[in-house]
Amino acid sequence: MWRELTLLIFLSVLVKSEYKFETKYFKVPLDHFGYQNKDSFQIKYLVNDDHWDHDSGPIFFYTGNEGQIELFAQHTGFMWETAPEFNAKIVFAEHRYYGTSMPFGNKSLDNDHIGYLTSEQALADYADLVDYLQGGAVIPKYPVIAFGGSYGGMLSAYFRMKYPHLVTGAIAASAPVHMFQGMTNCDSYYKIVTSSFSIDGGNQCTDNIRKSWSAIREFAKNETNAEWLHKNWKLCDPLKNTNNVQELLDFMQSMYETLAMVNYPFPSEFLVPLPAYPVRVVCQYLNGTLNGTKLMEAIGEVLNTFTNYDKKNKCVDYKKGSDYGNLDASGWDYQACTEMVMPMCTTGDHDMFEPRTWNLTQYAADCQKRYGVVPRPDAARIIYGGDRLRAASNIVFSNGLKDPWAGGGVFNTVNESVEVILIIDGAHHLDLMPSNPADPSTVRIARDFHKQRIRRWIRQFRK
Ligand SMILES: *[C@@H]1O[C@H](CO)[C@@H](O)[C@H](O)[C@H]1NC(C)=O
Ligand SMILES: *[C@@H]1O[C@H](CO)[C@@H](O)[C@H](O)[C@H]1NC(C)=O
Ligand SMILES: *[C@@H]1O[C@H](CO)[C@@H](O)[C@H](O)[C@H]1NC(C)=O
Ligand SMILES: *[C@@H]1O[C@H](CO)[C@@H](O)[C@H](O)[C@H]1NC(C)=O
Ligand SMILES: *[C@@H]1O[C@H](CO)[C@@H](O)[C@H](O)[C@H]1NC(C)=O
Ligand SMILES: *[C@@H]1O[C@H](CO)[C@@H](O)[C@H](O)[C@H]1NC(C)=O
Repeated sequence: MWRELTLLIFLSVLVKSEYKFETKYFKVPLDHFGYQNKDSFQIKYLVNDDHWDHDSGPIFFYTGNEGQIELFAQHTGFMWETAPEFNAKIVFAEHRYYGTSMPFGNKSLDNDHIGYLTSEQALADYADLVDYLQGGAVIPKYPVIAFGGSYGGMLSAYFRMKYPHLVTGAIAASAPVHMFQGMTNCDSYYKIVTSSFSIDGGNQCTDNIRKSWSAIREFAKNETNAEWLHKNWKLCDPLKNTNNVQELLDFMQSMYETLAMVNYPFPSEFLVPLPAYPVRVVCQYLNGTLNGTKLMEAIGEVLNTFTNYDKKNKCVDYKKGSDYGNLDASGWDYQACTEMVMPMCTTGDHDMFEPRTWNLTQYAADCQKRYGVVPRPDAARIIYGGDRLRAASNIVFSNGLKDPWAGGGVFNTVNESVEVILIIDGAHHLDLMPSNPADPSTVRIARDFHKQRIRRWIRQFRK
């Protein structure tokens, strides 16, 4: 008994301390694209040199996305697991305006300070950092491989495309580079959320979710019922009016999206603590034809699984909406209101949500009101190429077909060295996650493919 316990403690310590890094800071100009503003600030980056061949080993460089960088370092097991065999240095760079890489401290996200939050500025930060890591050498010594998942995957691809002299190749996992106006139907994302639920949870699950929206709305109209929901669903705030009910429904929509995204075959704390195959787990409650209080009780179980799997939460903080979870992505809404305008809509028949059209006029008005900015829906296409990437090279785009973001992913090989790998049963950048005995064979194949290409790019660099 004691031996087992000691072993257990030892194992958990081992897992927790597996990814060791040094935290460093790097000074960058506030504005890379003009010379009049002379301000600078520091971005954070994490480094591990344990396996690095200092003479010529590659640099594995994670292009940080919308969140504190430690979260990505802790969950991008693929880099940690492959660095030893490549004798690579590991670097995780934090995106400006996220985590602690704040140019104006706690005022950074105010409307009069947020303006230097763009992907171009972030990429320019990464370019300066890579140059610094190369010792400012005119002829760089170390091959640099960019890695990223989701928006970070877009950045890793863009980093190679914009700075090919600094970046040898890029692994762009679950990168929705086509999730822009004119390239992808606005309903694709929610269609995939729904198909992931029906594949893993059954059609009754999606049917129950589809009818739950109006059922909850109706149910909550009665004060006694609204109080029942407050109590039985353990909501932090009561449902006092239709506004609160809408907030709750928005939270729940975001919950189903997250469940589909992180539908990994192992328990993970990436966005919120969840069991293995969380979609399957929550759909167990939504099996059968449910209505009335039975339906409400079942949805309550789903909420409880999502918000309290680790039994640490006292109540459901539905007012957090899509900001719920470990990823502190508060700057993202500004990016989505400027250059990362991703049209999204629901139809209610090809998906399990209430119909909501994409209305750019309304969207722009909301952005104007919140940030005083006018979105540029074509900016990302003009700056980065959209779906015309033929001139790009040395990029692997990987997509899990169970991942809602695959809707905006690259599916056709665009160039002999811009390749696509599909992971049929993969969720959001599963290929970058730590390997696990429960991994499907398709993700093992994808990881081997990545390694082959990285090897090839490094050979090219050395020639
Ligand atoms: C912001 O930071 C300043 C200086 O560090 C501090 O005095 C202030 O209390 C902070 N404000 C908030 C709202 O956290
Ligand atoms: C739903 O219930 C049926 C009958 O009990 C069972 O065969 C099926 O596997 C269940 N589906 C899910 C997704 O739990
Ligand atoms: C609200 O629901 C309760 C319990 O279901 C019921 O007793 C009551 O009559 C309802 N009130 C109204 C105004 O419909
Ligand atoms: C729920 O469904 C049962 C049959 O499955 C039906 O008899 C009952 O009237 C329904 N209740 C409500 C509130 O729709
Ligand atoms: C889009 O939103 C604007 C502003 O709210 C509104 O005037 C317009 O009718 C909407 N268009 C559609 C097609 O719903
Ligand atoms: C792929 O990209 C490389 C490098 O830019 C270029 O030389 C090659 O012609 C491209 N191939 C195609 C089919 O466009």
